[in-house]
Amino acid sequence: MKKYHITTFGCQMNVHDSEVLAGILEKNGYSPAASVQEGDLILLNTCCVRENAENRLYGNIGNLKALKEQYPDCIIGVCGCMVQQPTVVEKIRKTYPQVDLVFGTHNLHELPKLLEKIEAERSQLYEVWDSEGEIHEGLPVKRNDPFKAWITIMYGCNNFCSYCIVPYVRGRERSRQPEAILAEVKDLIATGVKEITLLGQNVNSYGLDFKGVDFNFAKLLQEISALDIERIRFQTSHPKDLSDELIQVMADHPNICRHLHLPLQSGSSRILKLMNRHYTKESYLALAEKIKNKIPGIALTTDIIVGFPGETEADFQDTLDLVEKIRYDGAFTFIYSPRTGTPAAKIADPIPENDKKQRLTRLIQVQNEISLEKNRAFIGTLSEILVDGVSEKNPQIWSGRNTQNKLIHFKPASKIKPGDLAVVQINSAQTFTLEGELLV
Ligand code: 5AD
Ligand code: SF4
Repeated sequence: MKKYHITTFGCQMNVHDSEVLAGILEKNGYSPAASVQEGDLILLNTCCVRENAENRLYGNIGNLKALKEQYPDCIIGVCGCMVQQPTVVEKIRKTYPQVDLVFGTHNLHELPKLLEKIEAERSQLYEVWDSEGEIHEGLPVKRNDPFKAWITIMYGCNNFCSYCIVPYVRGRERSRQPEAILAEVKDLIATGVKEITLLGQNVNSYGLDFKGVDFNFAKLLQEISALDIERIRFQTSHPKDLSDELIQVMADHPNICRHLHLPLQSGSSRILKLMNRHYTKESYLALAEKIKNKIPGIALTTDIIVGFPGETEADFQDTLDLVEKIRYDGAFTFIYSPRTGTPAAKIADPIPENDKKQRLTRLIQVQNEISLEKNRAFIGTLSEILVDGVSEKNPQIWSGRNTQNKLIHFKPASKIKPGDLAVVQINSAQTFTLEGELLV
């Protein structure tokens, strides 16, 4: 039996695409390889959101040269966001002859056909579609977790934030039909799934592409929450499109988790305008306050970019100010990375790289203190967790997450197994984790 190995870079969308690729391959007679070396088919599913993701890919392809020399019959494939850029495809073609197969984000459903062709002809095959086609329903999925499942509800992005490459490599927004999503959720419930996470670049614009039909994300969430599913999460929410209707649906349905990931990107209204984000420091703050008031106990997390072209110390202070006012539970923080083809890459940027690094360090320091304080507030309280199983770092310790998405470590008890909902009493807190004791 032929074996496959997939290495995934980037966001949850890509992680889930890799589950689909694995599903397609297993349906076509492949089985998973224990290591890259064992793979008859080695796929690299790429990300291009920041330059370091791209550099990691080139490092990986470079490392596969020796393997290809040792096992010339193995097929090395590169897919995902990076290869939607023609310059990248040219670079692979010129510099990395060990790559046999290249396909993009719009034609991963074609993988069986591409493999058949490459096996019959034994020559390189580059097939990247430059625009999105129909949504392909019913592709097989090999899910990594029996209790927690990702569901893509829409593809692409229409927002064109000025720093972001995603709309160029993932195409325009296309929403899946609600019936298809609901059927998928029901199937997952039937197999024992306890938690689903709905995925889209901006889930808040779900359904806006249904011409003449009055349906939206809040309504989809409402319908899903009426099903017998323990937990529902979703990401990502663009603040400009987060409606009162959605806040109400969240408030009304306890099986929608008390966590919202709401990317801020910058706290400076001047920079937000240059980023094409369509909100201001004040309107974002007002939105965050409204959410906290309507959904008590909700955890807010965010994404922040420092060092956008021309960001001054005063702009950066606005970001720090908002972080301190909102008091996020956690933040993913990035140094701005210029992406060729995006409008921001053309803006003059006199800010030295070292200043940007220092700003990032300062931001992380402020946020980490807040994260720790927020976590400490859980000490002495009870949390219901969905049990993940043994923790990655310590085989004696198990972990699970509560509705606020806090990672909680605890000592296992014989009755408890992964996928259970259990209650823990929180005894101590760190910046990124809580510790608790199982109450059984
Ligand atoms: N540079 C740095 N960070 C970026 N992101 C997107 N594009 C860039 C870029 N060019 C960040 C944003 C987004 C997250 C997924 O990645 O914060 O929310
Ligand atoms: Fe990129 Fe903005 Fe779309 Fe998010 S909403 S994927 S940051 S363009």
